[in-house]
Amino acid sequence: MKVCIVGGGFVGVTSATVFAEWGHEVQLVEMDASRRAELEAGRLPFYEIGLEEAWRAASVGVVASVGKAATPDVVFLCVGTPSKADGSADLRFLEAAAAEVSAQGWDAPLVVKSTVPPGTTVGVVAALVPSCAMNPEFLREGCALRDAREPDRVVLGVMDEAGSAVLQELYSTVSCPVVVTDPTTAEMVKYASNAMLATRVAFANEVGNVCQSVGVNVDDVMSMVGLDFRIGPHFLKAGVGFGGSCFPKDVKALRSAASSMGVATPLLDAVLANNEAQPGVAVELLAAALGGLDGQRVALLGLAFKPDTSDVRETRALPIYSAMVDAGADVVCYDPKAGKEFSALVEGVVLAASAEAALEGADACVVQTEWPEFRELDPAAFPPVVVDGRRHLDRGALEKAGKRYFGVGDGRQAIA
Ligand code: UGA
Repeated sequence: MKVCIVGGGFVGVTSATVFAEWGHEVQLVEMDASRRAELEAGRLPFYEIGLEEAWRAASVGVVASVGKAATPDVVFLCVGTPSKADGSADLRFLEAAAAEVSAQGWDAPLVVKSTVPPGTTVGVVAALVPSCAMNPEFLREGCALRDAREPDRVVLGVMDEAGSAVLQELYSTVSCPVVVTDPTTAEMVKYASNAMLATRVAFANEVGNVCQSVGVNVDDVMSMVGLDFRIGPHFLKAGVGFGGSCFPKDVKALRSAASSMGVATPLLDAVLANNEAQPGVAVELLAAALGGLDGQRVALLGLAFKPDTSDVRETRALPIYSAMVDAGADVVCYDPKAGKEFSALVEGVVLAASAEAALEGADACVVQTEWPEFRELDPAAFPPVVVDGRRHLDRGALEKAGKRYFGVGDGRQAIA
């Protein structure tokens, strides 16, 4: 099948690679000349485990515009739908790409893969092309290839037989449930999935805050809570909050879509409020342990929003960094992959070349991202005070080395 993918970002590149691996002839449309040059040279403009090698092996054609693509059997829109200032989804890129596809006069079904508010495919895209559909993506950064190759479920929101047939053929080799529904349901599935996961994280964070006060460890509690088959163990890891390009944006967009229809979402409001407050929990632990932050040298370990990515969008490292700097701390940052990206986000960031270099001479450190290499560090290399935003380090080893360890959500410590 000839597949055309519009948008060479994380979702577009991953989808293009995996469709090519499944034996389809894939062309990727990327308008940005420098991104295109990177992709053509076999390099990705972002870091994602295993994807660069897979991309090179997949031999996907890259073109500069939809007009330059050969007539396809199916077109996917994988363009960004960022948040507007009011939290609603900005559909500018999607509308422009859909109009460009429409101008080609192709019969091929146009499939929206971008995350869009309920009603967008039927209300905005359907008017532009003879056939359209919605097929949400559920890829996690850091596991994108695995998630695309072996999805848990495929949701096909179709409007007609043409869209249904082409999509079912495209996904005919997957071994998971393939559910055929309407586009608006498919759009809601995507928002509801991310909102559900974000809600679980916010709930675990809130339980962690209570655990911290009652003197127990949230991981002990949630691991036993998760043994209930109705609850399960996933997405119950408390910490300094969720970041990334999806959870904050999608929860805000769902809230905004609901509000525009007069529907209140107090639960989503609380999830977002918890996420805003959670970085402050780490900073409070630090300030209490040090007796104030003014003039203290602090190493901030981990800038990416989660491990195995260079993505710093909505990273909780930013509010933590800003709060520490505002309180007068002298902050040195380190991340194995996201240093450059974080520096582009914040002016004047001091980056160390290694975790050891960041820790050297520090009075304290804060761990924001669970990079495996942080667990490999010699406990003796850590400063006297360690605040672990994700309870990632080996607390016992650090305490044995004479460090004062404070884990967010871990109440088994007394702040002196
Ligand atoms: C998320 C979803 O997991 C994907 O299914 C979805 O396709 C994607 O958004 C998207 O909409 O494109 P992603 O943003 O890559 O994927 O990252 P997650 O692994 O979901 O983590 C999001 C944030 O939640 C991270 O900051 C992570 O540290 C935090 N998190 C996650 C926790 O604090 N606790 C947890 O238990 C799990």
